[in-house]
Amino acid sequence: MRIFFAGLGTMGAPMAKNLLKAGYSLTVYNRSAKALRWFQDQGIRVVETPAKGAEDADAIITMLADDDAVSQVLGDEETGCIRSVKAGALVIDSSTISPSLSRSLSTRFMVKGVVMLDAPVTGSAPQAQDGTLTFIVGGKEDAYHQAEPLFRAMGRRAVYIGPSGSGSTVKLANNIMGAINMMAVAEGLSIVQKSGLDAEKFFDVIAGGGANNGMVISKREKVLNRRYTPDFTARLMLKDLRLASHLAWNLDIPLPGLALISNLYQIACHTGASESDMSALLETYEKLSGTTQTPEG
Ligand SMILES: NC(=O)c1ccc[n+]([C@@H]2O[C@H](COP(=O)([O-])OP(=O)(O)OC[C@H]3O[C@@H](n4cnc5c(N)ncnc54)[C@H](OP(=O)(O)O)[C@@H]3O)[C@@H](O)[C@H]2O)c1
Repeated sequence: MRIFFAGLGTMGAPMAKNLLKAGYSLTVYNRSAKALRWFQDQGIRVVETPAKGAEDADAIITMLADDDAVSQVLGDEETGCIRSVKAGALVIDSSTISPSLSRSLSTRFMVKGVVMLDAPVTGSAPQAQDGTLTFIVGGKEDAYHQAEPLFRAMGRRAVYIGPSGSGSTVKLANNIMGAINMMAVAEGLSIVQKSGLDAEKFFDVIAGGGANNGMVISKREKVLNRRYTPDFTARLMLKDLRLASHLAWNLDIPLPGLALISNLYQIACHTGASESDMSALLETYEKLSGTTQTPEG
């Protein structure tokens, strides 16, 4: 099976490496050159345009920043995969994008005899590296089964949700909760810090009780050391909250927590945390409460 992989960022590069490790034959594309170097050094085929990469691919996997990137790489009539994809190929988009774009691209590919799955992931850079991501899959169920070996090469779990767009919908619901969980950590920690108490002990306490959440576990070291090297940037989290807000609006459901956390991430991004890890939301709280800390060491 010949795979074309597009988007070698924080998540895409390790996912592509895990496919290579599993023995798949790969062609890769990335918009900018730097991320291609490792692949070129290994003798992996690199293409100049997504259309070129799609020509002979049995499966196309994309891991791109946002709706614009996916529209260009998959859907551009001149340079995108849709121009040259073979009938019978399978497209798997793992980017977090709007469900409406997942559905409209899937319809366009269907006309060419190609099935597209929306298969965004939970897990961050460490899970992409370890091959322990979870894929949340929307689209035709038989295509999901066809893709299972690929999901296994890059992840620990794949969950079939339902028709096209449903994977993207569940992913946005997941990220609303992730952002609110981060806010919960930042709020608890704000009280502890301003009271002059030990943040490490605070983490030990909450890890054992009902206040525990995924962010308590995965962001503990970043937050305690004030080192916000990005696994998942605040910019991308804000992008997802925007997509979730559009979806909630279209569904006509009020989500007050989403409105609040979107505003907080907007403040974070406008005050210097855009390219930091999403856990740098704590810095926003520190600015608001006058307890700004400096990195240790
Ligand atoms: N990081 C996480 O923890 C995480 C977890 C789950 C889901 N996600 C989602 O997974 C996706 C990728 O995340 P990431 O953290 O890997 O992001 P990233 O490091 O910023 O990588 C984004 C990739 O998209 C490419 N790209 C951006 N705009 C483009 C355009 N207009 N045309 C073509 N390529 C474009 C980038 O190319 P360049 O190298 O040229 O910039 C890069 O390859 C996002 O949708 C994100 O929301 C991320």
